[in-house]
Amino acid sequence: MTQYDRVYNFSAGPSMLPLPVLEKVRDDLLNYKGSGQSVMEMSHRSDAFKKIIEEAEADLRELMNIPENYRVLFLQGGGTLQFSMVPMNLLRKSKKADYAVTGTWAKKAYKEACRFGDIKVVASSEEDTFTWIPKFGKEDIRPDADYVYITSNNTIYGTAYNYVPDTGDVPLVADMSSNILSQPVDVSKYGIIWAGAQKNVGPAGVTIVIIREDLMGFAGEETPVYLDYKIHADNDSMYNTPPCFAIYVAGEVFKHIKATGGLDAMYQRNREKAGKLYDYIDSSELYKSPVAKEDRSLMNVVFVTGDKDLDKKFVAEAKAQGLVNLSGHRSIGGMRASIYNAMPMEGVDALIEFMKKFEEENK
Ligand SMILES: Cc1ncc(COP(=O)(O)O)c(C=O)c1O
Repeated sequence: MTQYDRVYNFSAGPSMLPLPVLEKVRDDLLNYKGSGQSVMEMSHRSDAFKKIIEEAEADLRELMNIPENYRVLFLQGGGTLQFSMVPMNLLRKSKKADYAVTGTWAKKAYKEACRFGDIKVVASSEEDTFTWIPKFGKEDIRPDADYVYITSNNTIYGTAYNYVPDTGDVPLVADMSSNILSQPVDVSKYGIIWAGAQKNVGPAGVTIVIIREDLMGFAGEETPVYLDYKIHADNDSMYNTPPCFAIYVAGEVFKHIKATGGLDAMYQRNREKAGKLYDYIDSSELYKSPVAKEDRSLMNVVFVTGDKDLDKKFVAEAKAQGLVNLSGHRSIGGMRASIYNAMPMEGVDALIEFMKKFEEENK
């Protein structure tokens, strides 16, 4: 247990938030900056909230070095609504799009897009249970595709792209829900980057969409108003009541990341944390990583013992030690340690200590 008797929470999402952010939110809760009210109670049209959302956007722009010709939107509906919004807005000319299927979420996105146009699987690792990331480029995609879609980090299978596919002039759309803000990215290589907040950004309820300006304004006549990116951009994410509290906490997370060295420092810490854990797994007799070394995620570390009953025992005994939510996704079993930005090195060290002890006791 740590300060405040908090556990180390290895959940895939919602997941840990940085402790200094939680403390700040606690301190601000009843009376935000002398306004006499909490952010939860505040009008989204108030000056105080306007400042919160503007600062959140400015800080995110600074952290990710987002070019001027991109808009930042704070939306609702989670990742799942983006599976629909992307095709509804971007299938604008040929109505064709090419998808890389690298896991459950990519497949869901692909299936949803199939309702709207001519969608092709351009690359897949499904036959190997998504244990690696396919390489593809310009030569593999349809030159007249309206966009190409990838999932940059596969939360369930513990894989991540370590390259940005070259799609030439065809806009690249990336679901970065589980690795946004974990390392620097060159935003200009993408048409859209989107991410649900509940892993590296803040509480569930807000979804970040970073979209190149020229890709907006193509939603069909029949598109429901909430699902048109342009409506949100034209109204600075205030077309309707935004998820105010989630945006405020996300803004505090952005400030915290800035104050702790930005994305270069974050990347360094994430590589150290994941490196330590993978090194231990690779050196152990008991645990195995099913994921190809070069495609391993820094955020979701998947491992197995090869014995389902032992996996269950591991998860239960870890929980008793304050190391919680270590079971793999219900679709694949085994174990998964999600070590997002807010997981401190001490949490990874505590996990490795426990793994060693468990290995000793279960030889
Ligand atoms: C990579 C990825 N995309 C999309 C989703 C779906 O997000 P939501 O539950 O917000 O709809 C998840 C959920 O964990 C995810 O990990």
